[in-house]
Amino acid sequence: MIKFSINGKPRQFDVPGEMPLLWVLRDEAHLTGTKFGCGMALCGACTVHVDGEATRACVLPVSAVAGKKVTTIEGVGATPAGKAAQAAWLKVEVVQCGYCQSGQIMSAAALLEKNQRPTDAEIDDAMAGNICRCGTYSRIREAIKDAGHAMKGA
Ligand code: FES
Ligand code: FES
Repeated sequence: MIKFSINGKPRQFDVPGEMPLLWVLRDEAHLTGTKFGCGMALCGACTVHVDGEATRACVLPVSAVAGKKVTTIEGVGATPAGKAAQAAWLKVEVVQCGYCQSGQIMSAAALLEKNQRPTDAEIDDAMAGNICRCGTYSRIREAIKDAGHAMKGA
């Protein structure tokens, strides 16, 4: 039995320790907001937070999160950075097809938690692992800046 918290709630799963966290979230916890893209840590669609750090759930064995705090797109709106990011995403109308956007918001929220005034270079660095086939990158950058301003009250 592997125990960890998801979005603030204690959970436990009777699954093999090598099962990727993404499988557990989607198939066992039925939290399908976190997406499968490449399965090889190359696209960022599966990004969640593990103890606050943006993490690719497709390649992380669930045994690695035992005792840790996992946050998904379903729960990140309860954090200041997640709430600000989601509001900015709507305001800027970032989304096109939407498939990559859970992962984009999770990476953005992890950045904004630490840095509410990121430069373009810092945004590019934090978001480099999140691919968007629809090319929403410029709106993502705008939304991250907007969210940072909202968090700082500017
Ligand atoms: S599905 Fe995990 S990085 Fe692509
Ligand atoms: S919005 Fe379509 S892949 Fe990013």
